[in-house]
Amino acid sequence: MKRIAMARPSWDDEMRQAALDTLDSLHWVKGPQGKSFGSEFAAYSDAVQGTPCQSGSVALWAALRLLEIGPGDEVLVPSLTYIATATCVSLAGATPIFVDVEPDYWCVDLAALEAARTPNTKAIIAVHLFGQMCDDALVNWCDDHGIAYIEDAAQAHGAVAMNGTKAGGVGDVACFSFFPSKNLAVGGEGGMMTTRREDLAARMDALVNHGRDARLESHEVGSNLRMSEVSAAIGRVQLKRLEQWLTRRRGIATTYHAAFEGLKGVTLPNIRPGTKHAWHQYCLLVENPDELRATLDQAGIDSRVYYATPIHRQQVYVDHPQHDEELPVTDSIAHRLVAIPVHHQLSDAEVQRVVQAVCGLLTA
Ligand SMILES: Cc1ncc(COP(=O)(O)O)c(C=O)c1O
Repeated sequence: MKRIAMARPSWDDEMRQAALDTLDSLHWVKGPQGKSFGSEFAAYSDAVQGTPCQSGSVALWAALRLLEIGPGDEVLVPSLTYIATATCVSLAGATPIFVDVEPDYWCVDLAALEAARTPNTKAIIAVHLFGQMCDDALVNWCDDHGIAYIEDAAQAHGAVAMNGTKAGGVGDVACFSFFPSKNLAVGGEGGMMTTRREDLAARMDALVNHGRDARLESHEVGSNLRMSEVSAAIGRVQLKRLEQWLTRRRGIATTYHAAFEGLKGVTLPNIRPGTKHAWHQYCLLVENPDELRATLDQAGIDSRVYYATPIHRQQVYVDHPQHDEELPVTDSIAHRLVAIPVHHQLSDAEVQRVVQAVCGLLTA
């Protein structure tokens, strides 16, 4: 029986042709594909501009530079997330301050943000975790306190907030990843910054190009963070398919919800009311993650734990004042969130195999 992987990127004739045409054009960098991908992705994400770049991680670093955040500044981040959400802050010379997440939705908690706020707080990086939108109330809270809002939308392409805005158009700047397992990929590494602020748009483009203007003069410290034209060409075709893929992910999540409701010893992922989840991951919160993972493994199904070690407890932050601090919700759920396959390429039969494996164990 074929193993069911956590992710299976899409690759079709139109994507292959777009890549070949771009190579044949010999216009491999700084060309029309990147420009079009940026504007098409921005339009899709309710932003005024999109700037393609080399990864979600560099997008986060560049977003902090764009907002002029550096030494002496504090940036509030969740600890239940991928490492880049925090290390970008350290790379920018600022200090990540770790805050707890909501017990129901697992995104950064507004009350925890308020408790952690100091006069040095310059930004938050709010992660739309697993494709779940953060609370809309964060926007007003940031505005009220003059704090910049960076969306870490690496897992949330196509997620929709309560007010109808898509991930990418909610905060001051948003950062996406196109790593192959993500909801949208580009045939390699890739990322995107988007902004809803006209005043940041020109600098955003310049930052991925050494802060240069049209006359090749540099105005601020940036770097070469540009996406290649081949990747942008592939990304443009993937973007045309994204809504259809999200519909499939949402359908699979609905099937899982119906099948798993009422099972003993498991908490299902909630959907924040009024929002649309992008289902980058479908995570079950269980008492015994090893047992569930072993059962899935025996049935030929991959799974992952997100995120076994909260970031503040990892070795990289051994000298951070919060290294031993308790973040009650994060600490209690981090090692118990088991992600099961939910990608758009799953067949109905594969979905049923996952359902049977989970139900077989948890009803027993
Ligand atoms: C929440 C989050 N932030 C940032 C990143 C970094 O993106 P990339 O792997 O493209 O650098 C990822 C991707 O793994 C992620 O899941």
